[in-house]
Amino acid sequence: MVDLSVTLGRLHLRNPILVASGTFGYAKEMAPLVDFTALGGVIPKTVTHAPRAGNSPPRTVETACGMLNAIGLDNDGLDHFLAHHLPYLRTLPTAIIGNIAGKTEDEFVQMATHVHEAGQGLAGLELNLSCPNVSGGLDFATDPAVTMRIVRRCRDVCPDLPLIAKLTPNVTDIQAIAKAAADGGADAVSAVNTFVGMAVDWRRRRPILGNVTGGLSGPAIKPLALRAVWRIAQLKAVPVIGVGGIGTLDDVMEFLVVGATAVQIGTANFYDPTASVRIATALPGAIASLGANRVTDVVGTLALRG
Ligand SMILES: Cc1cc2nc3c(=O)[nH]c(=O)nc-3n(C[C@H](O)[C@H](O)[C@H](O)COP(=O)(O)O)c2cc1C
Repeated sequence: MVDLSVTLGRLHLRNPILVASGTFGYAKEMAPLVDFTALGGVIPKTVTHAPRAGNSPPRTVETACGMLNAIGLDNDGLDHFLAHHLPYLRTLPTAIIGNIAGKTEDEFVQMATHVHEAGQGLAGLELNLSCPNVSGGLDFATDPAVTMRIVRRCRDVCPDLPLIAKLTPNVTDIQAIAKAAADGGADAVSAVNTFVGMAVDWRRRRPILGNVTGGLSGPAIKPLALRAVWRIAQLKAVPVIGVGGIGTLDDVMEFLVVGATAVQIGTANFYDPTASVRIATALPGAIASLGANRVTDVVGTLALRG
């Protein structure tokens, strides 16, 4: 028997396979296709304090080996999430990790406070410090001081709730941001959110996305995400959840070996909604093939020479 359980600070998961925010709806949509008992956890779509309509269409476009999206955090707001989505989510036989984005530092703290008071059933809370599509919004996780302050202030109001800081790859030094999140008291960091890019219709000489730019995801970004995870893992300051282009068992194993303690499957859910369950089911075999009997024995075992 291979032990698949992982611990990231205060967060305990039955296995390291999570599904990523924004790619799995609020889980109900996926229920006919997915056996939730097979998953380590589900991270529903980001919620903001107030409802948001999102960006003008088109909001997604396919690219070579990936997609660009500029959804713009279309959601019905935190109160609606707590009243309408959480009662369903908390009945699911897997860990549910909420995901919030504030417009300001104060709004993050206000939302975290509200989750702490009314978010019974959540196994953890991911702070989306990194949505590139919110018009006029700041990418908080481009600044180590801001990252540390938001995490610390959310930590103060949620002393027991596992907190995950979701980082943007659109920075020069992601290690500095991860270190700041760790210093702020994050139980883990998720690396990475999407890479800012654009798509153009040259005949019309127009951007394809209504928002002009969008976030690149899918297999195209896997090597970039892998390197980001590897760099953060080398700090040994905070557990890392790898995300970016994961769609197969091999992808998951690569992220574990470079140092991810858990992973999130994102864009793959759109073209293969059962990928996460299939990967989770096959994971013990891959771990055992390395002669290990615990997933944690594989994490961060990349050999650089020899
Ligand atoms: C259509 C779409 C919507 C997304 N929405 C969110 C979101 O609401 N909150 C969030 O934290 N990340 C969001 N993401 C980012 C993903 O969770 C993930 O970090 C990113 O896509 C990289 O992983 P992937 O290549 O496996 O998709 C979204 C991604 C896509 C493609």
